[in-house]
Amino acid sequence: MKKCFVVGSINCDFVIHSDYLPKLGETISGSGFATLNGGKGANQAVALARSGIHTILVGAVGDDVFGLKMVDDFKKDNIDVSYIRTLKGVATGTAMITVVKGNNQIILDAGANALLVKEQVLQALETSNVGDVLLTQYEVSSEIVAYSLKLAKEKGLITIVNPAPFREIDTSLYAYIDFIIPNEFELQKIEKDIENYNTKLIVTLGDKGSQYGQEIVPIVKSKVVDTTAAGDTYIAYFIYGLLSNKSIVEAMQIGTKAASIAISRHGAQPSIPKINEIN
Ligand code: RIB
Repeated sequence: MKKCFVVGSINCDFVIHSDYLPKLGETISGSGFATLNGGKGANQAVALARSGIHTILVGAVGDDVFGLKMVDDFKKDNIDVSYIRTLKGVATGTAMITVVKGNNQIILDAGANALLVKEQVLQALETSNVGDVLLTQYEVSSEIVAYSLKLAKEKGLITIVNPAPFREIDTSLYAYIDFIIPNEFELQKIEKDIENYNTKLIVTLGDKGSQYGQEIVPIVKSKVVDTTAAGDTYIAYFIYGLLSNKSIVEAMQIGTKAASIAISRHGAQPSIPKINEIN
């Protein structure tokens, strides 16, 4: 099977649950505090690896306990960590996550994620073959995203972008993107721009499922515990579907099943299912 290169973020998620969000200046009690492995890039890489795809994560962490532990955990998930840099005296990316009734609110500090360099991407993609996949998101610099997409296209890879969190995208970049997978909010910002390109658009619609053209794939109902990383899991298992020669809609259905399992569990990476659970 083909390989997948993920150029993306690695975050330590500081998660707390509460019944409602405090107002500015207000202190409230929460529960269930945990530090969990996260970051859109890392979550998507973990989900890809758990689907059985050979996954290479290109990223950066600080030399703090969080970064070092996460890289160790990625190895346990069989992710190739050869192109992750550990940066001295820099903090690993962090996400402060408040979960209220299953939904979350997130504040990010990019930390080491902002310091990924082109050389890492170049070295990683030197090991790529035509037909492999390059997946990226916007928790690393726009410059790295653009560089990765252009290089990947030059090398004949399938390129997939999850434009999250939203950042302005230089429209000329769409020429290098095969699939873009925004949520409804991100879609509003990019919809007009992609009209003139061949980029395939798949939109995640939360509890309404996901959409490709006129086709809507509804969610698989499950108990909502925590939606963190549901989108990441969907994207990774969608790619698993594509690389297993499924049609786009069949791949979306696989992504949907995987995401429904992820939302029934706590946290980002701890919630991501392995392929045998989906089968
Ligand atoms: O997509 C979920 C992720 O977004 C969390 O793990 C958090 O790190 C933020 O990056």
